Amino acid sequence: MFSSCHIYRNLQQVRQLNKKLSSSSAAWVSKRLHDPYTKLAQENGYRSRAAYKLKEINKKYHVFDKKKSQNIVDLGAAPGAWCQVAKEECNSNSKILGIDLLEINPLRGVSFMQANMLLKSTMLAIRDYFNNDVVQKTDDKSLLTVDVVMSDMLHNLTSIRFKDHLKSVDLCNAGLVVCFNILKPKGSFFCKILAGPDVDQFVRRCSKLFDNVEKFKPRACNDSSREFYIVCRNKKDIKISLKELLKNDQQ
Ligand SMILES: C[S@@+](CC[C@H](N)C(=O)[O-])C[C@H]1O[C@@H](n2cnc3c(N)ncnc32)[C@H](O)[C@@H]1O
Repeated sequence: MFSSCHIYRNLQQVRQLNKKLSSSSAAWVSKRLHDPYTKLAQENGYRSRAAYKLKEINKKYHVFDKKKSQNIVDLGAAPGAWCQVAKEECNSNSKILGIDLLEINPLRGVSFMQANMLLKSTMLAIRDYFNNDVVQKTDDKSLLTVDVVMSDMLHNLTSIRFKDHLKSVDLCNAGLVVCFNILKPKGSFFCKILAGPDVDQFVRRCSKLFDNVEKFKPRACNDSSREFYIVCRNKKDIKISLKELLKNDQQ
């Protein structure tokens, strides 16, 4: 299965490759070749078409602020298009950290970490990255240093829809745990999720930590894809345990 974030720059090479592929893979490549967002991304120097999803999210929800510096975490950042957009749309003094399982080519003004978001050690490494300036970690609140947590994480899809859905919810939960640990009160979080029965449970979980929680499908998401985003704004300034946050509540 191909990763949707990969742009093929050499069309001729792709057409040659196309001939060798199975019919479903060939259809996938052909769709990408004629996709307007892929073309736009190539023309405008973005590393993937995902750039346009983030542009739509920011246009609607104004997560980036040109007027003040922000600490921004990009989970599942490879190949780096969201970091490119974040850099363009936020204040130039902002700090952006991208994390991915894959290595990411350097991008000026952005730091990258190659790590697995499903490991607790990665969460701690992110916290330490943004916590350099805090001389004495007096209480938990001093560790809430991040303004925006965004996650476009997606695993390699299988042919089993339900399994893919559950895996995507796991990745969303990993993002929510990052918010629990280091997002400032009033901070924003948004994450990609694949449609399925556990979406509503995840939304309820997010509502424990945020005042506003919405589902949003940017136009740049393919109509046929099951992906959309959960957008959470205004992190509540409340005390809640991680156990309570992740508990499965009844409707
Ligand atoms: C759709 S791509 C992200 C595209 C990116 N937003 C961009 O603009 O270029 C999804 C990424 O999630 C990453 N990913 C999946 N599971 C992960 C995990 N457990 N930890 C970190 N990254 C993960 C994948 O390696 C992949 O690069």
